[in-house]
Amino acid sequence: MTKNSYNSVDEVAENFAKYFLNLTKTKNCFNVALSGGSTPKVVFDFIAKNMPTDFNWKNIHFWWGDERCVPPTNDESNYKMTKERLFDLVKIPESNIHRVLGENDPLHESERYSDEIKDVLPSKNELPYFDLIILGMGDDGHTASIFPHQMVLLKSAKICDVATHPDSGQKRVTITGATLNNAREIAFLVTGANKKEKIEAIFNQTKDYEVYPAAHIKPIEGNLSWFMDKAAWGNS
Ligand code: 6PG
Repeated sequence: MTKNSYNSVDEVAENFAKYFLNLTKTKNCFNVALSGGSTPKVVFDFIAKNMPTDFNWKNIHFWWGDERCVPPTNDESNYKMTKERLFDLVKIPESNIHRVLGENDPLHESERYSDEIKDVLPSKNELPYFDLIILGMGDDGHTASIFPHQMVLLKSAKICDVATHPDSGQKRVTITGATLNNAREIAFLVTGANKKEKIEAIFNQTKDYEVYPAAHIKPIEGNLSWFMDKAAWGNS
């Protein structure tokens, strides 16, 4: 596990973007699962502004680790956020964007997306093999859309499953624990003082840290990297 702490969110974004670029150069068909949340927005803004032609976009296929079950035009949509901050600003082939159809029935879409992932991605350990999965961590220690009240999604036999936001009840499609942990590289982007307590608990394995889904992201054979700002890192 690699822990990287930076002075600001902007520095997290710049350093993660360079890590991401270098990773994509290792393969001519690179499959990455994106995350929603605030830090990826800063990453996409940085890439679109500073590195629009550095990436060989035609070699990169974009997926999502989780998506809200809303239309792609809804402000809650992770796809919409990514489209506005990245896809509309750089030349990515439309066929390289594998959107979760949030407008569809959640259960049906979770099964469809599972099939698309299985059909397109190479497999390893009899599971789909992502080159990189980008994850955030919520204030409650959730990651992707695996929330503390649904730890069962960490062990789901499905590639993707339906999750429910604990407060809003919003349905989501999430990649489940086994496929997340099967990735070649997993990178957490965690910033802000509101994450400090959970980061300390997870890194120091204290205070019932195992109740936090993010604590269960442990790649089977791949590498796990944390990109954090000092506000989130605390004294870990
Ligand atoms: C989502 C994300 C979610 C996010 C965390 C952290 O769809 O909301 O996938 O898992 O990464 O909630 O979000 P912040 O970085 O904005 O705190």
